[in-house]
Amino acid sequence: MNKIKLQLKYEEKIQKLNILNKLYFNENNPSVSDAEYDKLKKEIILLEQKYNFLNSKNSPSKKVGYKPSKNFKKSLHKVPMLSLTNAFTEEDLKNFEKKILNFLSKNEEFKITYSAEPKIDGISASLTYKNGEFYKGLSRGDGKEGEEITENLKTIKDIPKKISYKDFPEEIDIRGEVFIQNSDFEILNQKFANPRNAASGSLRQKNPEETKKIPLKFIAYTFGYEKGLIVNNQFDYLKKLNEWGFKTNPLNILTSGIKNLMKNYQDIEKKRADIDFDIDGIVYKVNDFAIQKRLGNVANAPRWAIAHKFSSNKAVSQIIDIEIQVGRTGALTPVAKIKPINIGGVIVSNATLHNEDEIIRKDIRIGDTAVIERAGDVIPHILSVDIKKRLKNSKKFIFPENCPSCGSKTIKEFNKITKKVDAVRRCSSEGYYCDKISIEKLKHFVSKEAFNVDGFGKKIVESFWKLKLIKFPQDIFKLDYSKIEKLDGWGKLSVQNLKYSIDQKKNISLEKLIYSLGIRHIGLENAKLLSKHFVAFSKFKNLSKQSDYEDLLNIDGIGETQVNSIKSFFSNEANLKVLSELEKVLVVKNTIQNSEDGLLKNKTFLVTGKLNGISRAEVKSLIEENSGKTVSSVSKKLNYLIIGDKPTKKKIDSAKQLKINIIDQAEFLKMLNKTS
Ligand code: IVH
Repeated sequence: MNKIKLQLKYEEKIQKLNILNKLYFNENNPSVSDAEYDKLKKEIILLEQKYNFLNSKNSPSKKVGYKPSKNFKKSLHKVPMLSLTNAFTEEDLKNFEKKILNFLSKNEEFKITYSAEPKIDGISASLTYKNGEFYKGLSRGDGKEGEEITENLKTIKDIPKKISYKDFPEEIDIRGEVFIQNSDFEILNQKFANPRNAASGSLRQKNPEETKKIPLKFIAYTFGYEKGLIVNNQFDYLKKLNEWGFKTNPLNILTSGIKNLMKNYQDIEKKRADIDFDIDGIVYKVNDFAIQKRLGNVANAPRWAIAHKFSSNKAVSQIIDIEIQVGRTGALTPVAKIKPINIGGVIVSNATLHNEDEIIRKDIRIGDTAVIERAGDVIPHILSVDIKKRLKNSKKFIFPENCPSCGSKTIKEFNKITKKVDAVRRCSSEGYYCDKISIEKLKHFVSKEAFNVDGFGKKIVESFWKLKLIKFPQDIFKLDYSKIEKLDGWGKLSVQNLKYSIDQKKNISLEKLIYSLGIRHIGLENAKLLSKHFVAFSKFKNLSKQSDYEDLLNIDGIGETQVNSIKSFFSNEANLKVLSELEKVLVVKNTIQNSEDGLLKNKTFLVTGKLNGISRAEVKSLIEENSGKTVSSVSKKLNYLIIGDKPTKKKIDSAKQLKINIIDQAEFLKMLNKTS
């Protein structure tokens, strides 16, 4: 075949592959089998290897910024896959239990039994069984939506494909961890840094035949949606899992009391090196499902469970330099650049120094020999420096008084609540004046918990910023794709994928949008509260009147700190422009109120005094579950004041004056058709 004919044949194949990609990714409608797709791709690559002059920038071999996750269709989890709050110390565990007891309005004598389960460091997956048949498997994804990796999961021997036990629920999502045993990883060790990466990489192979070659294991530990599950507690559930043919962790135990949790934690930590899979802590779950249900969730983690992470690994290295990083909220964080060192299997070359006060307190200097600690997935930090090994000519580190990015003055704020000056120094510029703050704001905007734009990571934000393709969040939705296509490392396909990911996110909930803006002190939970309050983007966007701000204080959970931060956000022209530009390019969905037709619909409540056997937090959850609202002060907006033991007289007086219904606990419970 002559050169021209070869070129034509080659181009034709690439064109065909691009059409298949489009059908697969954009329209979720694959027109050929996976095997055919792979065959075509392979043919293109083989041609390139054989004939050097075949070198199209649209070739699949040139795709950069292409995430393998796009190989899979997405699907919603019927029940979200939550994450866990971390605990590191005994103190953290005590606080965890205290919060539970407070929520349940119980005293310390109330015994809580926990299922203590070693936390396997793998990849979580959710397996849906309908009428005993494994029919769909999803990865965690962002917790709400995962990737359909059914065929790959089916290659795992530990996952039963058919279950015919009578007591197996009619429908259930069995959830657990996919992982590789360390001994298997050693044999297979080729291109992955650790067993977790190897498990993740092989689960996401496009071709299940490739997944099959890797000895993946599955351990089950929880469930999502279920219909027909007849157990009352976690430990019985684990037992049932075994009966139904799933593997569970043999080191799971049932225990109670912080002392016993600590003992088990220490025992397992000692055994850690001898266990044939990586564990990074112990998960404690309140055993009783009825109590779990009462406790519910905060943001995206349950109140009834916590991950007790293992203590860290430490190493000694030298501080080469101290850099000042500027964060999204203007905080200046000193970071030590250290001589790269392996700490527990990970090469560490940066360690945080937290803030200016920490440097002063520990007298940390450039050139010092330091102990660096790495705990779990937390950023490594400097524990201490060895003064004896200090270089003779070393000088005290002087923290800059001006922002290293924009030159603005830096300030240490006075915290009205703690009545102390903040340890953190901040750049005083607002909005998008400071380049570093702007870049960090953009990174936050596209991050997982925010807009979650697939394939738009921190590196891409930085490179697009440098190329002046983006400066404000709205620019992300107005990218000039023809320019990107010409950039090094990009081709038609990767640009097509990026455009697809961005377009998909143009439909967004008000809650996510508020969170994405990165307003200081407005995290996930507060963004949720605000979105429930405003319901529509237009209402939020037009926030400017003093009375509107005062109104925000009525939202239970929003305090002065948050309101001041929101005020300062809205007083900045650049932020207002961002909001109006975003309005033009996005479709912001109104907030759906909890079961709109609940028993307490359109009713607002406030509690004063102590209730019997039920905490404030639980009352709040109960009200919200039934479509009611809680407010934090007596005003015309209040419908019911619930009085308990030792109420505040002032609140009752104002309520009487405003002719507000005053009810007691029994009357409140009656409204919910409950007696106790
Ligand atoms: S329970 C709400 N149990 O830890 C319950 N998780 O950060 C959430 N994990 O994504 C999960 N072992 O990948 C649970 N026995 C265990 C676990 C476990 C490991 C992982 C899982 C999850 C992460 C939570």
